[in-house]
Amino acid sequence: MMPTGTPSHDTTALGVPRPGGPGRLGDRTVSRVGFGAMQLPRLHDDRAAAIAVLRRVVELGVDHVDTAQFYGDGLSNALIREAFRPEDGVVVVSKVGGDPDPDGPIPIRPAQRPEELRASVEDNLRSLGADQIPVVNLRRLDVGPGLRAEGDQVVDIDDQLAVMTAMRDEGKIGAIGLSAVTLDVLRRAIPAGIACVQNAYSLVTRGDEDMLALCADERIAWVPYFPLGSAFPGMPKVTDEPAVRAAAQALDSTPAQVGLAWLLRHAPNVHLIPGTADLGHLEANVAAGALAFDDATLAALDAVPSRSVEISLD
Ligand SMILES: NC(=O)c1ccc[n+]([C@@H]2O[C@H](COP(=O)([O-])OP(=O)(O)OC[C@H]3O[C@@H](n4cnc5c(N)ncnc54)[C@H](OP(=O)(O)O)[C@@H]3O)[C@@H](O)[C@H]2O)c1
Repeated sequence: MMPTGTPSHDTTALGVPRPGGPGRLGDRTVSRVGFGAMQLPRLHDDRAAAIAVLRRVVELGVDHVDTAQFYGDGLSNALIREAFRPEDGVVVVSKVGGDPDPDGPIPIRPAQRPEELRASVEDNLRSLGADQIPVVNLRRLDVGPGLRAEGDQVVDIDDQLAVMTAMRDEGKIGAIGLSAVTLDVLRRAIPAGIACVQNAYSLVTRGDEDMLALCADERIAWVPYFPLGSAFPGMPKVTDEPAVRAAAQALDSTPAQVGLAWLLRHAPNVHLIPGTADLGHLEANVAAGALAFDDATLAALDAVPSRSVEISLD
């Protein structure tokens, strides 16, 4: 076994086998089953429970954690700072392009201008207590669901990449990702060096197959957000899908596990960041990394029709 603090291809820095196997995120190797921290602020009245979820994340072999300053107005970042030690070897991925708006109709407002991107990276560095954020996603507003850019928040990708690459040169950012982008924007950004793309995508909302394929060709990680269909009412839920439920029953697993395992099986560059504030769900999501399908089950899941992800999150 590798000594603690040294990640390897097959085990994390804590020596835990990687759930879902190893995957590439920029120039790093992480477990393909990661964790999304957007649900954690639900535990704002029970900080110990939120920290326990994050400690369990690393114990289970997850070393890729997605966050944002606007998750709980800094709370997710503060919890990450408190829960993780350097020897855990967690690759924290944050995002810029929006700022917290705790009193708004939804708790995020667009912050797309280059000086806002820089200020947001500084906010993340402060709240995470870090000198560098390993990966920062430029969260655009090109595609739904949710916010769209208007007025001075409509900013050209080249102007944004100029400040993102400058911050990478300065060492504040380890690598650059993109989120909520079109195929055209991704193509324009690739020469800048893109580690990952986060768009809304799941077994039941597969509108971005062409972008996923381009990412696979370019060795860019595809890190779908809403991999289960989100906690928002009105979004199609993977766990409601009859074919998913039938497969879960046949495999003695849960519908959520089937949906996550399908994503891992769908393409080798897929990484999972399911969001949960529930320890049992976390364990189930990690276990999904080992779920295998026979050909008939896979064919039934592949045949599930894709639905639109375009709903209002208001
Ligand atoms: N780039 C972006 O713009 C962007 C946007 C949104 C989200 N994200 C990231 O993507 C991550 C994932 O998205 P998400 O959290 O919104 O949605 P999601 O992962 O699709 O779904 C989360 C919902 O599923 C439930 N859940 C999780 N595991 C489950 C299980 N094993 N069985 C049953 N239910 C389960 C959660 O409830 P419990 O808490 O009760 O388990 C929660 O209601 C976020 O956490 C965030 O880090 C990125």
